[in-house]
Amino acid sequence: MMKTVTTVAELRAALAPLRQNGIAMVPTMGALHAGHVSLVSEARSHADTVLVSIFVNPAQFAPHEDFAASPRTLDADLERLAGAADLVFAPNTREIYPDGFATTITVGGPSAGLETDFRPHFFAGVATIVAKLLIAAAPNVALFGEKDYQQLLVVRQLVRDLALPVQIIGAPTLREADGLALSSRNAYLSAAERGIAARLNVILKDAIAQARAMGNLRAAESQAITALTQVGFAPVDYVTIRDAQDLAPIATLDRPARILAAARIGKTRLIDNMAL
Ligand code: PAF
Repeated sequence: MMKTVTTVAELRAALAPLRQNGIAMVPTMGALHAGHVSLVSEARSHADTVLVSIFVNPAQFAPHEDFAASPRTLDADLERLAGAADLVFAPNTREIYPDGFATTITVGGPSAGLETDFRPHFFAGVATIVAKLLIAAAPNVALFGEKDYQQLLVVRQLVRDLALPVQIIGAPTLREADGLALSSRNAYLSAAERGIAARLNVILKDAIAQARAMGNLRAAESQAITALTQVGFAPVDYVTIRDAQDLAPIATLDRPARILAAARIGKTRLIDNMAL
């Protein structure tokens, strides 16, 4: 029977007798979709106890990003998790950020550029909550989707730098039949926007093919930006091919690389990435 707890003290008490056979954690902000459920099933293969946290973290939203409008669907989320998770940690904001909370964790390295250029507050918010959750639960492994690839690298850097005793596992992006990466944000798309959204993954695949065939990474990126603009994305924040390990800029495909993109359709900002 899945149990839900809301305080760090309850979380630690619930996990104490379960530690022996391992704990796998999936941190989420709720609004769960099939992508989260696949992370939760993968978690099961790493440990006997599967813990999911659901917390819409105000610290990773800028004032204009409308934290209040972010979907809260706790009952539906708990229904989705029943049978897949053992324990859900669903704290309120005061439990995580009590009066007087004054700590922020800033990660360097892979957080430079890309998302940070457009959402400067984002990775400090993510690093602070992820550190707090990992310290509160002390899982053996924690799973993060490759969909948020830069976030995954930032979390790896955080865990390495602070020597947190947890193994971070990145799980492949789940996609719709037409290739659109699953995301809670897809729910905001109108039917017409949903059609445009499906072009993102196709254009990134074309860019990969072009980069491989021609070897000119900058040309492949700028053709992808033009193609995205032509099908209706506005603005295109970035399309870039980077070193897959640390997101450093690269000029040639002489190491594992990743293409990453962010672009807006109407009010919805989509991100996607793929290995080269
Ligand atoms: O990817 C997310 O859902 C969030 O950024 C995370 C990792 C749960 C931190 O709030």
